[in-house]
Amino acid sequence: MRVLTGISELYTPFRRLEQAAVAVREGQVWWVGPESELPQEFRGWPREDVGGCGVVPGLVDAHTHLVYAGDRLEEYLRRARGEPYESILEAGGGIHATVRATCQTSEDELLRLARRRMLSLLARGVTTVEVKSGYGLTAEEEIRLLRVIARLRAEGPCRVVPTLLVHTVPLGWDRDDYVRVVTEELIPEVAAEGLAEAVDVFCDRGGFDLEETRRILETALRHGLKIKAHAEQFVRLGAARLVAEMGGLSADHLEMSGPEDWQALAQHGVVAVVLPGAALVLRKPLPDLRAMWDAGVTVAVATDHNPGSSPLCSLLLALQLAVALGGLTVEEALVAGTANAAQALGKPALGRLEPGSSADLVVADSPNALDLLYWWGESRIRSVYVGGLKVYSHQ
Ligand code: NIG
Ligand code: FE
Repeated sequence: MRVLTGISELYTPFRRLEQAAVAVREGQVWWVGPESELPQEFRGWPREDVGGCGVVPGLVDAHTHLVYAGDRLEEYLRRARGEPYESILEAGGGIHATVRATCQTSEDELLRLARRRMLSLLARGVTTVEVKSGYGLTAEEEIRLLRVIARLRAEGPCRVVPTLLVHTVPLGWDRDDYVRVVTEELIPEVAAEGLAEAVDVFCDRGGFDLEETRRILETALRHGLKIKAHAEQFVRLGAARLVAEMGGLSADHLEMSGPEDWQALAQHGVVAVVLPGAALVLRKPLPDLRAMWDAGVTVAVATDHNPGSSPLCSLLLALQLAVALGGLTVEEALVAGTANAAQALGKPALGRLEPGSSADLVVADSPNALDLLYWWGESRIRSVYVGGLKVYSHQ
């Protein structure tokens, strides 16, 4: 147990406190408030002074594809010259290229690569990261990738939330046969072994249609898994409304979504996870975050880190883009990258600094906590804590 003191300002993230203190015990926040009001019972606890710096909750990256091998630089160059993502995918490149590279790579090497990416997110303030499979496709390969994610989770120091991503039909497979393997073999095995908390489906051209998505997500629910979808990224197929009606955690992407979709998400309390990296790299319009937020949707922002559509390693940059291009205020962007992102993972104790929440926090290298979101491309992070323990210090 310990009391962190010397915090010039702290965002819970919903409230801003000045000259704050945080009492931490067993990895949890027991009390947070102005240091001058620290209750008697915490006054005898050992103190750790953070040196007059600002503090925000540890960031939560609610959508990543960290486990893959190889890169897609050549495709990135072609797309920058105007070739569409979807035609590269249809020609057997894109996701399939990463699947080929990933399937040829050992679990140890995939773990090493994923660890490096996770540490890069951590150095930019991420304390919880959702990690999807999705570059294996066959049942055996998807299970192999989920095992890599389980090892990453066991290692830490970030909290890792594993998701099975049903990404696309493997080349040479019949669609129905593949959906049958997913629903009759893959999902039951993943659920039985506890390898994922949720199932995600890429419901789009190049992925799965709405009926296939419904079958897959219904199977996931029957096996006690949570559900989400890559929704309305290229074509508006209705996945956002489907996930809303099925009581999912989140609908992600949403580049092509409209007000009716947002209304359904708001009504069912399903989080909209917006991914500025993918939208901008693929030259799609960023969804109107301001309008979504004002429509009552719980909006989160994530990196979507992957080698194809979003080679982005900084959630802070994604949040800055949500402000610059999506019209969120800086304070709202902080909520989108912490508490709302935690809600998208079904983890209400994360992404906030309140009694009962996990003591995951970022200490800024400045008395102003929001300097973290003000300066672009330069780290203003001094240190990062997970469960009350310092797991990263900026050199
Ligand atoms: O979130 N478009 C679907 N899935 C990923 C991209 C995967 C890839 O291109 O490798 C996404 O954008
Ligand atoms: Fe994605």
